[in-house]
Amino acid sequence: MIYKIAVIKGDGIGPEIVEEAIKILNKIGDKYNHNFDFNEVLAGGIAIDKVGKNLPNETLEICRNSDAVILGAVGGPKWDSLPGNERPEKALLELRKKLNLYSNIRPAVMFDVLKESCPLKPEIIKGGMDIVIVRELTSGIYFGEKYSKGDYACDSMEYSKYEIERIAHQAFKIAQTRNKQVTSVDKSNVLETSRLWRKTVNEIAKKYPDITLNHMYVDNAAMQLVKNPKQFDVIVTENMFGDILSDEASMITGSIGMLPSASLGDNNFGMYEPVHGSAPDIAGSNKANPIATILSISMMLKYSFDLQKESDNIEHAVKKALKDGFRTPDIGKIGEKIITTQEMGNIIVENI
Ligand code: IPM
Ligand code: MG
Repeated sequence: MIYKIAVIKGDGIGPEIVEEAIKILNKIGDKYNHNFDFNEVLAGGIAIDKVGKNLPNETLEICRNSDAVILGAVGGPKWDSLPGNERPEKALLELRKKLNLYSNIRPAVMFDVLKESCPLKPEIIKGGMDIVIVRELTSGIYFGEKYSKGDYACDSMEYSKYEIERIAHQAFKIAQTRNKQVTSVDKSNVLETSRLWRKTVNEIAKKYPDITLNHMYVDNAAMQLVKNPKQFDVIVTENMFGDILSDEASMITGSIGMLPSASLGDNNFGMYEPVHGSAPDIAGSNKANPIATILSISMMLKYSFDLQKESDNIEHAVKKALKDGFRTPDIGKIGEKIITTQEMGNIIVENI
């Protein structure tokens, strides 16, 4: 079987971490006899520099004709002065929107061996943390009407019922495979979109009687995450709240360099990217942690290609590398084996 994969390395540390992920996939291909066919395309700042456009049409076409997309990261200070629509980040938003990837799955799992890197007190994270954040990805304030006029600027948060319904279904289905608990996060004491959100999630919940649903305001959720992260199983929330809470949750696991994500639509097609950004401060220095991208690849094998054992193989290989004491600087402490991006990739390949 040939799997067609569009590869967007992007900006900053993007190329370095994606290189490692590709090494891993090639190893999986050799071991299990799969053919991964990579097609590298441009998006983000590098596309602006090379072809004058953040998201060239060809990129979108090739992504549409692939079975999955791998994306490193986009953006950087170099393009900060560009108007909103021309920025590298806009390419990512357009990709998500045009490929209809409305459902963003962000697991935040604490690896036992990384407990020391967690900034919370040991008693708070005793027993670990295993949360899946289900973030709505193609609507809300990111995509509502926006304009600025002199000293005034406006972004509108918009949601329609069907956009809430489909992400709610996704969250309940994921909860069915886990601890059967969904926390829906909103700000329904203030926002109209949140009131529609809460009402709709309650309606959909009736179809999943096996799942326990509770609601939480986003400010409280931000607090509860650091007070008692173990209370959460699946969190479902709108686009911007999900962006913010997933960064917060990632830090609890030790480093944002560890968190993968899958952006899915209605079929098996998906885009896989780390939760972190392009980290321009360490770009090109072989210091970035490739694990978030490597775990994103593992999600790709599972969600888009239905290759569960190959996916598990990657996860175990990552866990073994950590257990053996190998650390990139973001998760490393004095006395541990601090290694480079490439070395981490090589060790994980060996473990496979
Ligand atoms: C993320 C990122 C993006 C987002 C940016 C780069 C547009 O922060 O994937 O979480 O806000 O969605
Ligand atoms: Mg983010």
